Amino acid sequence: MFGSLKAQPADPILGLLAKYREDQNPQKIDLGVGVYKNEAGHTAILDCVKKAEKYRYDNEDTKVYIGPTGSPVFNDEMTKLIFGTHKVLIENRARTVSTPGGTGALRVAAEFINSCKAGATIWVSNPTWANHTGLFEAAGLTVKAYPYYDYENKKLDFDGMLAALKEVAADDAVLLHACCHNPSGMDLNQEQWQQVVEVAKDVGFTPLIDMAYQGFGVGLDEDAYGLRLMAEHVERMLVCSSCSKNFGLYRERIGACTVIGETVASTDIAFSNILSVVRVLYSMPPAHGAALVETILSSDELRNQWYAELQVMRDRINGNRQLIVDKLVENGVTRDFSFITRQMGMFSFLGITPEQVQRLQDEFSIYMVGSSRMSIAGIANRNVDYLAQSIAKVL
Ligand code: LMR
Repeated sequence: MFGSLKAQPADPILGLLAKYREDQNPQKIDLGVGVYKNEAGHTAILDCVKKAEKYRYDNEDTKVYIGPTGSPVFNDEMTKLIFGTHKVLIENRARTVSTPGGTGALRVAAEFINSCKAGATIWVSNPTWANHTGLFEAAGLTVKAYPYYDYENKKLDFDGMLAALKEVAADDAVLLHACCHNPSGMDLNQEQWQQVVEVAKDVGFTPLIDMAYQGFGVGLDEDAYGLRLMAEHVERMLVCSSCSKNFGLYRERIGACTVIGETVASTDIAFSNILSVVRVLYSMPPAHGAALVETILSSDELRNQWYAELQVMRDRINGNRQLIVDKLVENGVTRDFSFITRQMGMFSFLGITPEQVQRLQDEFSIYMVGSSRMSIAGIANRNVDYLAQSIAKVL
C-alpha cells in the first residue's frame, strides 16, 4: 500500500527550524518560525503561565474526558477576550469551542464550511500564511486568492483587494487576518476595515477571521477592531483564534473556533454541526493549555500579570523594527527599509530575492522563510550588527 507514496518536501516554515537546530555556527540567527524570543534568544514560559500551572497542579483532581466543546469556562473567557462587550454576546449569537491550536480552529472552520457547501470557495489574501492553502484544500475547499500586498511598493494593494472582494460570490467564504498579517506584517487601518465590512455586507460572503496574534499589534482591543466591526454588521461569520503566541503556549496546542449566526436558533444549529466536525476529526480538544488560559483570565492578579508580560513582548518586537532599520542605515545600506517600522506583529517581508535569502542561510547562518519573511522577534541587540552587515553583503 505504501509503495505509491512519494517523499514530501519539508514544510517551508517548520523545516527551517530543523536546519537551524543542526547549524553549528555560533553566530546563527533564527528569523524563521513565528515564535517570540527574548533578548537572550529564548522562548521562556510566561510567569503567569508558571503560576497557573502550579495552581492546576494543586487543584486539578480528574483527567476524565472533557467533551468536544472543551472547557466551558475557557470558551467563555476566550469569547470575551475576542469580542469584549459586543452585541453578539448580548444577543447570544456567538458559540466557541476550544481547539488544538489555531491550526485546529482553522481546520474545524474549513470542515464546517465544507459541510455547509461541499467544495465551497474560500478566498485568501495574496500572500497568506503558508499553511492556509493546504489546510483548506485538505478539507475539500477550493482556494482562490485576492490581491493584498503590493510587493513593488511595500504597501497594501487595498484597491485591488476591495475590487476583488466585490466580485466574490455570496456563498463563498473570505479569510481575513484580524491583525499582524502573516506573512507581510501589513494590516488594514480602521477606515479600510470599514470599507471591507461594507463590501462583506453588500456581497453577503461569510468572513472567516484568523486572529493568531491578538495583543501583538497595538493592543488586545485594538487588534480586534476589524473583527468586532465585522461582527456588528454581518449575519454570520467564523473566528479562529490562537493562544500559542499571546500566552506563549505553542506546544500545548490551544486555540478556539467561534461561530456567529443570524439568530440564536441558527447559531445553535451551526454550533451542533461544528461539534459533529470535531467528533470525527479529533473527538475532543487537549485540556491542559485551556486550563492554564482559563485560570489566568479568571484571576484579576494573573490576568494583570499577563497584560504586563504581553506588553513586554509587543514592545520588544516593535523596538526591534526600528533597531534593524537603524542598523541597516549604519551599515551603509542605501535601500529604504523604513517600511519595516510601518508593519505590525511578528513578521515583515524584507523584500529581497529568494537567492539572497538562500545566501543569508548558506553563508551567514541566518534563517528566514524563502519569501524573505522574517520573524522580527529573533532580532536582538547581541545579533543585530551581524544581521545588518550580512544583509548589506547579500544586497
Ligand atoms: C508561523 O507562521 O511561523 C507560525 O504560525 C508557526 C507555524 O505553524 O507556521
